[in-house]
Amino acid sequence: MVMMAVMMTPLVILVTMFLRVACDTLLCYFVTPMRIERIMEKQGVRGPKRRILTGNISEMLSLHSSATSEPMKSISHDIVSRLVPHFAAWYPKYGQRFLYWNGIEPRLCLTETELIKEFLAKYNSVSGRSWQQRQGSKHFIGEGLLMANGDQWYHQRHIVSPAFTGERLKEYAGNMVECTKEMLQSLKNAFESGHREIEISDYMTRLAADIISRTEFGTSYEKGKQLFQLLTNLQAHCAQASRNLWFPGSRYFPSKYNRETKAMKTKVDRLLMEIIESRKDCVEIGRTNSYGNDLLGILLNEMMMTKEKKTKTTTKRGNNNGFNLNLQLIKDECKTFFFAGHETTSLLLTWTVMLLACNPSWQEKVRAEVKEVCNNGGIPSHERLSKLTLLQMVINETIRLYPPAMVLPRMAFEDIKLGDLLIPKGVSVWVPVLAMHHSKKLWGEDADEFNPNRFASKSFSSGRFIPFAVGPRNCIGQAFALMEAKIILAMFISKFRFTISENYRHAPEVVLTIKPRYGVQVCLEPLDN
Ligand code: HEM
Ligand SMILES: *[C@@H]1O[C@H](CO)[C@@H](O)[C@H](O)[C@H]1NC(C)=O
Ligand SMILES: *[C@@H]1O[C@H](CO)[C@@H](O)[C@H](O)[C@H]1NC(C)=O
Repeated sequence: MVMMAVMMTPLVILVTMFLRVACDTLLCYFVTPMRIERIMEKQGVRGPKRRILTGNISEMLSLHSSATSEPMKSISHDIVSRLVPHFAAWYPKYGQRFLYWNGIEPRLCLTETELIKEFLAKYNSVSGRSWQQRQGSKHFIGEGLLMANGDQWYHQRHIVSPAFTGERLKEYAGNMVECTKEMLQSLKNAFESGHREIEISDYMTRLAADIISRTEFGTSYEKGKQLFQLLTNLQAHCAQASRNLWFPGSRYFPSKYNRETKAMKTKVDRLLMEIIESRKDCVEIGRTNSYGNDLLGILLNEMMMTKEKKTKTTTKRGNNNGFNLNLQLIKDECKTFFFAGHETTSLLLTWTVMLLACNPSWQEKVRAEVKEVCNNGGIPSHERLSKLTLLQMVINETIRLYPPAMVLPRMAFEDIKLGDLLIPKGVSVWVPVLAMHHSKKLWGEDADEFNPNRFASKSFSSGRFIPFAVGPRNCIGQAFALMEAKIILAMFISKFRFTISENYRHAPEVVLTIKPRYGVQVCLEPLDN
């Protein structure tokens, strides 16, 4: 009898395990999707028919690859049907709210400005990054601010925000000017050695990476460059790997991809550790008594403070809901800010140069403004930046047409009542920023045209222009990015006149952000001032 029981136990365990997996699978793949579909359908929200497991992915992929297979015939900004062809196909068919399936993840596309504003402003605590998103970036930016949810997000946001106050930004301005001077010098060198045409996105990418690593982590140019290389490779790799995430269990496969990713991640982490250690050494030797007030310094100070508190009051468990700022999280945070802080900005700069190169009259207007406002050779002081109104209008028009973050995805963790709409738990709300920025209904017939004048009157409703998102989870680096962009563009435009090269092929494509596939080639003409 005892014997029987002993033999039975593993079997029972096995059967229960099997039943659990089967049950989860059934829930995940069949019951929940059907429930969500039913709830949405009752409210009149429809969408393309889904396939079990893959949803509408295959169709989206094929729409995508055919839309971006060729460069565009002309330099047109009518890019919605090219970059988000599924939106262009489904919006006219299913209306301003529709549901589609990215594998087993239901996505609700919302386009009503009032609902979007309300959703982003009020429901931050019950929505956030989905499992798919977090899994896809686990080996890349990890649990840092961009991917955190709930209390973890709240504490991180609270800790890092001092690095982005007005006072701090003012101190960064000098650094930004220095980095830009170096970049302009290397452009000048390239010109003098006979390169009349240059590819600007390369320069802008390196410049933005240089600025973020100097201002936020105080690293040397060399360390920053290494980090930049490693992180760029890691990012490309993770983007590849996450394409297969919809496939159940794929992350467990000991594939070549997964192995390579881990190896790259180890390298990045080791380099970051070096940067952190050298900062710690300075304090321990006694050269300084604070880790500094840039981002890395703030994070290290915070970690040391909580450590001290913990050793003093060992009996009382911390009251910050298990939030623990450890070295791993600091590394994740460094990667997060490096990623969030350089690619978006460099794309904004690249597209602005492209647009100004194609619009010489605006280029001249901005150049004249910079000359008038910054009469010391185009180097803008922090106080003067707010006077560069035309430049700000051009920047706004650029991020309207080519918003670096083209969607805002937020998963609902609870049932959410939004106006007349019930969003069931488990639905990912997708705010299609790009499509809204190009909407004729919201911007008028010239929505696809470059016309900075539309920003001349301040009376634009914020709901239709959301390049940095809105609400408590908006872009923490918005002021940083805009200051950086103004400094760089003002300095660049007063040193060079530029026209678009005949070699430029207009081929915007989506790789997380909106990129020019073949770069942006411009012809330079140095200006003496
Ligand atoms: C033109 C430049 C930039 C654009 C268009 C941009 C846009 C955005 C957007 C739309 C979000 C919200 C994403 C979402 O909720 O899904 C975001 C978040 C974020 N951005 Fe930026 N960003 C830019 C530059 C920067 C810079 C320079 C930094 C850092 C120095 C930065 C750091 C972050 C971080 C850490 C978050 C996450 C905030 C949170 O979840 O609480 N961004 N950005
Ligand atoms: C959605 O995807 C499925 C499967 O790929 C496909 O059969 C269906 O036609 C798609 N729906 C639409 C509206 O394109
Ligand atoms: C540009 O857009 C920002 C919002 O991102 C807004 O605060 C600012 O007033 C706009 N500036 C101009 C000149 O349109």
